[in-house]
Amino acid sequence: MLDLDLRYGLMKAIAFLKENYHTPFTLSLNPFTEPSRLMARIVSIHSFRGGTGKSNTAANLATLLSKYGQRVGVIDTDIQSPGIHVLFGLETDRMKNTLNDYLWGNCGIVDSAYDVTVAEMKTGDGAVYLVPSKSAAEDIARVLREGYDVRLLRSGLQDLVQAYSLDYVLIDTHPGLNEETLLALAMSNLLLLVLRPDRQDFQGTAVVLDLAQKLRVPKILMLINRVLASVDVADLKHQVESIYGNEIGAVLPNCDEMMQLGSSGLFTVRYPDHPLTHELERLVKQIVVESEISRKPNP
Ligand SMILES: Nc1ncnc2c1ncn2[C@@H]1O[C@H](COP(=O)(O)OP(=O)(O)OP(=O)(O)O)[C@@H](O)[C@H]1O
Ligand SMILES: [Mg+2]
Repeated sequence: MLDLDLRYGLMKAIAFLKENYHTPFTLSLNPFTEPSRLMARIVSIHSFRGGTGKSNTAANLATLLSKYGQRVGVIDTDIQSPGIHVLFGLETDRMKNTLNDYLWGNCGIVDSAYDVTVAEMKTGDGAVYLVPSKSAAEDIARVLREGYDVRLLRSGLQDLVQAYSLDYVLIDTHPGLNEETLLALAMSNLLLLVLRPDRQDFQGTAVVLDLAQKLRVPKILMLINRVLASVDVADLKHQVESIYGNEIGAVLPNCDEMMQLGSSGLFTVRYPDHPLTHELERLVKQIVVESEISRKPNP
């Protein structure tokens, strides 16, 4: 079963990349990691199954990155079920343009970016710009009905990085495997693969991990979310690491505060001293340090 799923996912990915890059598919194809083309680090936050915590992770990581003086773009590529704007408190009537408008050719991507920096969190030039997706039923229906040219995402990203001098672009994705996700993976310097300690998550995660490895995503970190307090974290990490043979980036506790917050705000702003915030902060430091090292030219 897993093999069949995997083969199907890979076939789709390869066909998609061949068509969109108009070039024979090679496993080293990852154009956005070329420093000459784009200096910002592209980080995709993805999971095979829905509701694992991707949007909360992306929004909080972006805000924590701004705390370390980083300039961050966040793109909601989950155009079928958008939602990250809610976490940033961006009201839909303020969203004059969105990613949808850009993809339909109605505006530049920079016109669909909103400053969602949390002033009391940022340091220095730190900033967060969000490109949201439209959540009105008719807009979602239009995307599903008409589709769009996913290649525009690639050029939009470049424009956004240049316009706001971004250090990072975080891509919040739709669960599963679709064209946006494949493109996001192919462009990424880092994939944060989110999963819960749940057998249904485990199988699909193996599919995405294999695909990301075949697309040569330079770095993949697994993020285990919603771990119960009764679980032995060291043991869980060891188990997951041995199942997937991949590094674990963070283990986040399941917590009542997050459920009570119910996406009405940013957890790390509301609970700066919570263990979940500390774990995300540790991950952000790791990402920043590793990015600095890989940006350094070879001696
Ligand atoms: N560590 C946690 N503890 C408790 N609740 C959590 C935790 N992480 C996420 N949640 C809750 O899980 C729900 C889903 O979170 P979120 O929207 O971030 O997931 P998602 O992966 O983006 O979902 P989708 O696939 O639908 O886009 C939210 O209600 C959120 O509050
Ligand atoms: Mg989401």
